[in-house]
Amino acid sequence: MPTGRPPLVPLRALGAARGVTVGAAVNGRPLGADATYREVLAREFGAVTCTNAMKFGPLQPERGRFDFAPADEIVAFGRDHGMAVRGHTLVWHRQNPEWIAALAERETAALWPALRAHIQAVMEHYRGQVAAWDVVNEAVADDGSPRDTLWLRALGAGYVAHAFRWAHEADPGAPLFYNDYGADGLGPKADAVHALLCDLLDQGVPVHGVGLQMHVGLGRLTPDPDAVAAHMRRLGALGLEVHVTEMDVRLQTGSGPLAERPAEQARVYERTLAACLSERACTSVTFWGFTDRHSWIPSFTGQDDAPLLFDPQYQPKPAYHAVARALSSQV
Ligand code: G3I
Repeated sequence: MPTGRPPLVPLRALGAARGVTVGAAVNGRPLGADATYREVLAREFGAVTCTNAMKFGPLQPERGRFDFAPADEIVAFGRDHGMAVRGHTLVWHRQNPEWIAALAERETAALWPALRAHIQAVMEHYRGQVAAWDVVNEAVADDGSPRDTLWLRALGAGYVAHAFRWAHEADPGAPLFYNDYGADGLGPKADAVHALLCDLLDQGVPVHGVGLQMHVGLGRLTPDPDAVAAHMRRLGALGLEVHVTEMDVRLQTGSGPLAERPAEQARVYERTLAACLSERACTSVTFWGFTDRHSWIPSFTGQDDAPLLFDPQYQPKPAYHAVARALSSQV
């Protein structure tokens, strides 16, 4: 029975009309098992990111043994549906395999070649298939200091520059990004990310863009749109592309009546994205999932939440329509 409402224009089409890629992070399990998951993903999004399958541990669980199959399935789905692929992520302090932790502990001299070999093998496997690589993820601590990770402790702060140089050697055509959370607006961590990028560029390190994860929420986690725009503008002034890479908006950090939170969530999506899209440097927006049926947040916070654009039954929420409005807003 027609609803009388005009058909929804898919988000990927709204984004394409203004030169912005609209993507979603993908879990391999529902991709393989749920036809509605596949249908909504292909209809609404023009890019995919693997939530986990392209990380160090899943890709190289034992030294020298690679398991590309789960990530290849997501990349193939993206290719078959005309979607770009964001590669996530080559160097992070989480989801590393045990053997890397052991090397970092006992044979730091062997960690350099192990990291270089991993980057080269993965970049060669996906050469020409990845539109943007998150080469280094979350190297800056929340207070703006270098994050104390196994990589920093074993290799020193130079591991960041080396990772980007090795990635560029492996695939000179690949756009290389630094990705982080909690650095979406202005403040000590955002300033430190900006300073890190200035330093890398001053050293001639091949960095082409920066990913702002945009894991935000209601209340205390609501970003200031003007600060987001100002931060994007100063990153763009360095000649960098800026991608929103992992956006979701938590309800549980709000304090208003539960019934009013979906509308407040929609306002956060619309205002934040409108600010991003007002900046020429912002060329891509990816959500960290698209249905509340598969979000990382409930397992992370231990609380029920509904941070994404579609409900567990794949129905568009007020947040979905808010994103559509932001994408349709005049440049
Ligand atoms: O694969 C194992 C499985 O074998 C085991 O049975 C199960 C139970 O322990 O754990 C499974 O691994 C989980 C993995 O997701 C795959 O599902 C890990 O425990 C779990 O910690 C891991 O969570 C991921 C998290 O990164 C790890 O820090 C989330 O799914 C993923 O969405 C999240 O994504 C990160 C980005 O990569 C970087 N930015 C922050 C973002 C949210 O933390």
